Amino acid sequence: MVGSVAAMRIDETSAWQALAAHAAQTDFDLRQLFAADPERVDRLSFDAADLELDFSKHLVDDTTVSLLLQLAEEAGVADRFAAMRTGERINTTEDRSVLHTALRAPRSETLTVDGQDVTGDVHDVLDAMAAMAERVRSGEWVGHTGERIRSVVNIGIGGSDLGPYMAYRALSAFRHPDIECHFVSNVDPAHLWSVLDVVDPESTLFLVASKTFTTIETISNATAARTWLVDALGDEAAVARHFAALSTNADAVAAFGIDTANMFGFWDWVGGRYSMDSAIGLSLMIAIGPDGFTDLLAGFRAMDEHMATAPAAQNGPLMAALLGVWYRNFRGHDTHAVLPYSQALDRFPAYLQQLDMESNGKRVRLDGSTVGYETGPIVWGEPGTNGQHAFYQLIHQGTSVVPVDFIGLLHPERDLDRGAGQPSQHDLLMANLFAQAEALAFGKTAEEVAETEADPARVPHRTFPGNRPSTMLLAERLTPSVLGQLIAFYEHKVFAQGVIWGINSFDQWGVELGKVLATAIGTEIVADDDTTAHDSSTNRLINRYRSARR
Ligand code: F6P
Repeated sequence: MVGSVAAMRIDETSAWQALAAHAAQTDFDLRQLFAADPERVDRLSFDAADLELDFSKHLVDDTTVSLLLQLAEEAGVADRFAAMRTGERINTTEDRSVLHTALRAPRSETLTVDGQDVTGDVHDVLDAMAAMAERVRSGEWVGHTGERIRSVVNIGIGGSDLGPYMAYRALSAFRHPDIECHFVSNVDPAHLWSVLDVVDPESTLFLVASKTFTTIETISNATAARTWLVDALGDEAAVARHFAALSTNADAVAAFGIDTANMFGFWDWVGGRYSMDSAIGLSLMIAIGPDGFTDLLAGFRAMDEHMATAPAAQNGPLMAALLGVWYRNFRGHDTHAVLPYSQALDRFPAYLQQLDMESNGKRVRLDGSTVGYETGPIVWGEPGTNGQHAFYQLIHQGTSVVPVDFIGLLHPERDLDRGAGQPSQHDLLMANLFAQAEALAFGKTAEEVAETEADPARVPHRTFPGNRPSTMLLAERLTPSVLGQLIAFYEHKVFAQGVIWGINSFDQWGVELGKVLATAIGTEIVADDDTTAHDSSTNRLINRYRSARR
C-alpha cells in the first residue's frame, strides 16, 4: 500500500553524515593519489562477470570507499535486491512486484509469486517466441501472398522501442542476412513514412510492441500501418499474416484486430524500461536467432548473479551506484556521461537515459515525503571518438565536472588496417579511449604547458585541470552475452541508487500530466473554435497552429 513503507532518511544515517564531513575535509588529487599508492589501480579494478572494471580514476580514497560501502549497508541494498528477486511488491505506488530478473532465470529455477509459476510462464513465452523467430528466419512464415518475411517493423515507444532498437544496432554482426528490422516510435508521421516508403507490404511483418497497448503513439502508428497494409494487399485477412503483438493486454490486442494467437505476452511485474529481454525483444530474437537471444539472457543472468553474490567491495553495479551517489550528493555533480567507444553502441546512452532518468528522476521518497537531497542525475552521451570533436571541450575544461563511464571492447567485429607499422583503426579508437581517460584524470598543469608554449598569455587556455573522474568498462567483444551483462550492470546500478535515495525506481507518474494535456489539446486543435482553455501563451500557440492548418 502506498505510504506504508517506513521512510528511512538516508541523509540521517551515520554513513551519510560521515561522507558529508569527509567530502568537506578532504582534497582529492588524482596525481597524488596515484603517486602515493602504486597498488591503487589493482585495488580498484575487478571483474563483474566478463566486464573488466577500473574505478581507480575516481576522486576517492580508502576512507571514501569504506564509507560508501557502509552507506550501502545502512540503506539495505543487498536485502532489497533479494526482496526484488523473490517477488516482494517493492513497486508500492503501483502495488506490483518487480521481477525483470526472472526474465533470465534458467528453466530449472522455481519461482512462484502469488500462485503464478513465474519461471514456467517466462519460458513458455520464450519458447513461443523462439518458434515464431525460427519460422520467420527460415522463411516458413509467409505473408498473405506467400512471400517470405524480409522486413520486420517494431512499432513501439520508450521501453517498447529503445531496448530492442539499441540491441539490434549493437549486435548487427549477429543478424540474419536476409531480414532487416526497422523501429518506428515517434508519432511524427515522418517516422512511419520513412519505413513504409522502403518496405514491401508482401514481405513485411509488423510487431506492435506495447505493454499497455494503449499508448497513443504506438496505437496511432499501428493503425496507420494496418490501413497501409490492407490497402496495399486489398484484403483485411492479410492482417493475420502481417501483424503480431507484444503486450500484457490481451483484450486491447484483440480489440485492435490482432489474433491473440499472434500475441506474445508478458506481465505487469515487468516495467517497460526493463522489458527488452521479455516478449518486447521479439524483433531482436528474429534478428539474432533464439540461440543469440539465449546468450543475451545468459549475460543478463551472469550480472544478476554477480550483483547478488559478489562481496560489496568487488561488486561492479554497487560500486558504480555508490560512486554516482558520491558525485551527486557529496560533490554536487548534476550529470553523468556514458561514452561508448563503439559505434555499435550508438543508441546505448539513449537507452540508459530512459532506464536511469525514468527510474530515478523522482523527488519524493516511498512514503511520499520530499527527499531533500539530489536524486537521479541527467544521463547523456554519444560514442567516442565522435564526441571528442563536439562536447569533450566542456568535459575537459568547462566549469562543470562530468563523471564519465567509458566503454571499450578489446576486439572489433571487423578492423581496418592503416598500413604496416601503423595502428589499425580499432587500435586508434582504443588509443583515443585510453588517452581521454588519462587526460581527464591527470590533466596538464600550467608548468607543463609553459614548457612548450612560448606565449604566456596562452598558458591558462591550454591548461587542463584534470581530476575529472571516470570509470573504464572493458570487455573482450560485443557479444549478445556481453551486451546483456552491460544492460544488467546499469539496471542494478540504478536499482542500488534508488534504494539508497529511498525512492520508487519502478513507477513513472511524471509522464502522465503531459499525456493528459496532449489529449485535451488534440481535441481542441480539431474543434470548430479557437481555444481559451489554457494560459495565454498556450492558447496562442494552439490557435496559431489551428490557423496555420486551416
Ligand atoms: O510514457 C512512458 C511509458 O509508460 C514508458 O514507461 C513505457 O516504456 C512507454 O511509455 C511505452 O509504454 P507501452 O509499452 O505501454 O506502450
